[in-house]
Amino acid sequence: MDVLTSCPDCGSLLDIEYEWDKLPVPKSMREFESRWSNRRDPLDFSGVWRFRSLLPFAADKDIVTIGEGQTILQQSPAVGKYVGMNAGGLFLQYEGLNPSGSFKDNGMTAASTHARMVGAKVAACASTGNTSASLAIYASTAQLFRVVVFVGSGKIAYGKLSQALDYNAKTLQVLGDFDDALERVREVAGERGIYLCNSVNPFRLEGQKTIMYRVLESLNWQVPDWIVVPGGNLGNSSAFGKAFTELKALGLIDRIPRLAVINAAGANTLYQLYEERGVRWDGGMSDHSTVETFFSDMDRENRKASTLASAIEINRPVNLKKCLRALDACDGVVRQVTDQEILDAKAQVGAGGFGCEPASAASVAGAKRLRAEGVIAPSDRVVCILTGHQLKDPDATVAYHSGNTDLFEEKLGMRGVKTAEYANSPIVVENNLQKIIEVLER
Ligand code: F0G
Repeated sequence: MDVLTSCPDCGSLLDIEYEWDKLPVPKSMREFESRWSNRRDPLDFSGVWRFRSLLPFAADKDIVTIGEGQTILQQSPAVGKYVGMNAGGLFLQYEGLNPSGSFKDNGMTAASTHARMVGAKVAACASTGNTSASLAIYASTAQLFRVVVFVGSGKIAYGKLSQALDYNAKTLQVLGDFDDALERVREVAGERGIYLCNSVNPFRLEGQKTIMYRVLESLNWQVPDWIVVPGGNLGNSSAFGKAFTELKALGLIDRIPRLAVINAAGANTLYQLYEERGVRWDGGMSDHSTVETFFSDMDRENRKASTLASAIEINRPVNLKKCLRALDACDGVVRQVTDQEILDAKAQVGAGGFGCEPASAASVAGAKRLRAEGVIAPSDRVVCILTGHQLKDPDATVAYHSGNTDLFEEKLGMRGVKTAEYANSPIVVENNLQKIIEVLER
């Protein structure tokens, strides 16, 4: 089997275009509401497939679903205040509530469906941890194909590694980082005819569009002013741009929100190219030589991505071009935030309920920065995407809150995090009723 993800001539990633004029397109987003009462149908129950007429590449019988996309948009007054918004202006989209605990399930249900359509026997991905957890859960539940996942050595958070192992995926720890692992898996997939499930796979992005449909659904189909999302391999931001471009072209929304993509400062390729070097989509003709020079300098200087938000520790984002297109369509901006800002924001998200892993909190840290710069107005309606569950990476959380300086220094201090302003430290107390009461009354 030969499944291409990029153009053999120019190397650019493939993209999915529908012939909408030949397809039954809804007249209004409200039409999807009729599916809410049909929860016994797994396709209507799924938060991805109830929108299947907007990603119409599969027949119903081929769809692989495990009930993904039961996620919620929640107004968060406490986090809103931290970011600097007026009351009621900040919303958090909790994608950690997916079956494998991250937004990746939105895309993996679509890639698994396509893998089934083409009769794939083996599927593979490289991952900083969430993609592999997601692919592994779909493979183990559907039992349609075997799975091999490539992870970089040393960097993967244990919550995520444990999922790949527990779901019985063949797991290769490549001696290198994520960028190395992705390069290798693309080669191996090409050599061995293995179905590739990284976000180079355009069907992944089709599924991830539905995160935006659910945001609109929760806002009573009103378009917010801003979508703020962490950027790693840039699949999500690319998918969001495609979702809004299509909805606008189909007349299902009347305007497109602005998009803010947030890099970690230690993995800031998009920020460097977009904000510092002015690279733009330019109708698909973006300045190739600036991009090439940037990457060849990176190689020459042996610059490696480094952030404790390990999910987005990526220096060579494969969806760069598609993300530039999304930024163009959504009048986008890119910002970088430090690990300190990420962990402080993460503690605020946790204190506001649900919680998230470090990479996800980059969205909140980025929104705070954009608010401080005046790019986001206090009266705007802002949706931050919380991409992964808090329990994915408990080490960073415990180190931040513990008040144990050794642990803090070992886990965070060496990565430039010096304070834990919002730490909620555990209190050590003697095993004695009186002492415990004394502590409680302090
Ligand atoms: N947030 C989390 C929790 C992630 O796991 C990722 C990516 C991102 C944000 C960035 O999203 O790549 O679409 O820009 N994780 C990938 C993985 C790379 O292998 O799990 P993106």
